[in-house]
Amino acid sequence: MSDLNRQIRLKSRPTGAPTTGSFERVDVPVPAVGDGEVLRRTIYLSLDPYMRGRMSDAPSYAQPVELGEVMCGHTVSQVVASKNPRFREGDIVAGYDGWQTHAVNEGKMLRPINGAQVRISTAIGVLGMPGMTAWFGLKDIGQPKAGETVVVSAASGAVGSVVGQLAKIYGCRAVGVAGSPDKCRFVVDELGFDGCVNYKLEDFRPALAAQCPAGIDVYFDNVGGNVLAETMRILNRGARIPLCGLIAEYNAEFKTPGPNLRPLLTNRALIKGFIVSDHYDRFPEFLQECTPLVASGRLKYREDIVDGLDAAPAAFIGLLEGRNFGKLIVRVSDDPTST
Ligand SMILES: NC(=O)c1ccc[n+]([C@@H]2O[C@H](COP(=O)([O-])OP(=O)(O)OC[C@H]3O[C@@H](n4cnc5c(N)ncnc54)[C@H](OP(=O)(O)O)[C@@H]3O)[C@@H](O)[C@H]2O)c1
Repeated sequence: MSDLNRQIRLKSRPTGAPTTGSFERVDVPVPAVGDGEVLRRTIYLSLDPYMRGRMSDAPSYAQPVELGEVMCGHTVSQVVASKNPRFREGDIVAGYDGWQTHAVNEGKMLRPINGAQVRISTAIGVLGMPGMTAWFGLKDIGQPKAGETVVVSAASGAVGSVVGQLAKIYGCRAVGVAGSPDKCRFVVDELGFDGCVNYKLEDFRPALAAQCPAGIDVYFDNVGGNVLAETMRILNRGARIPLCGLIAEYNAEFKTPGPNLRPLLTNRALIKGFIVSDHYDRFPEFLQECTPLVASGRLKYREDIVDGLDAAPAAFIGLLEGRNFGKLIVRVSDDPTST
C-alpha cells in the first residue's frame, strides 16, 4: 500500500462553471490507525451534480465544503487495517470519504456491502443515493398509476434512468428527455422507455407532445429551465412534479426567470421539492425492492467510469455540461471483486 494519501481539495469558489483551477491536488501521509479506527483505500468515488452546490457558500440545505477542505463524495472502499471490531481487513464498505485515496476514522458512516449479487460499484449508483432518489421521488411524490405517462429529464443519467425503468415496471408509459441522439437511443433501445426526446433540437416542443399523446401525469424534473417550462404546457389535470434537481441552472451566475405557474393552478397540479437525505430511513425498503431488480437484470444501469483520482476535476466539470453518459464514477484504485 502507498503510504501517501492523495487528496483533491477545494481551492477556490467558482463563479459560473468550475475549472480545474477550482481544485488542488495534495499528497499527505496516510494517518496511523488509532484504537477504534478503520483505515480504508478508496476503490470507487461517485461524482454527482450536488457537489457544485457544495463548492458555493450561498445558503443551501447543506454546509459548503470549506476552502482547503477535501471535496465530499460517496465512496466504495476496502478496509486495509482495522482496530475496530466491526470491520476486518479486506471488507468492502460504502461510505462518504470524499475525493481522496485513503480515509481513517471510526467508520460511523460505513455500511458493509456484499458483491455476491451485484457489482460493488452499484452501491454509489443504481443501488445508492441516485437510485434511492429516483425510487423515493417517483413513488412518494410522483405516485404513478398504471396507464399514466411519466416523463423524466436527464433520462440517461444515474437518477433518470432508474425513474423511467421503475415507471415501466409500475405499468406506466415512460418518456425520457435527454441531450443527444445516442443518449435517446440508449434510453429507448437499452432501458426500454417508450420514447425519448432530444431537448436540444428545435422541434423539441412538437416532439415532446408527439411522445405524450395523452398528456403528462408525472414529470420527474432533474433539470429545471426550458424543459420544465415545456412539460408544464402539456400537464394533465392532477399531475405531479417531483422537483429533484435543477442542473440546467447550477452554473448560472444570475437567477433564471421562473416558469409560468398557470398550468399548476388550472390543472390542480402538485410540484414538490425533495432532498433524498431527509428520507434515508427508507433506504432498507428501497434496497429490498430494487436489489432483486438489479440482480435479475430487470433494472439496468450504465456506468461512465474514469480512471484515477486525478481525472476527477475534469470529469466533474464534464458532468455539468452533459458529457457523462450514465452514472459518473472515478475508479480510484483496483476493484478486487471485478473479474
Ligand atoms: N433532490 C435530491 O435529493 C437529489 C439527489 C440526487 C440527484 N439530484 C439531482 O438529480 C439530477 C440528476 O442527477 P444525476 O446524478 O442523475 O446526474 P446525471 O443525470 O447522471 O448527469 C447529469 C446530466 O444532466 C444533464 N445536464 C447537464 N447539464 C445540463 C443542462 N445545462 N441542461 C440540461 N441538462 C443538463 C446531462 O444529461 P443530458 O445530456 O441528457 O442533458 C448530464 O449528463 C441533478 O439535477 C441532481 O442535482 C437530486
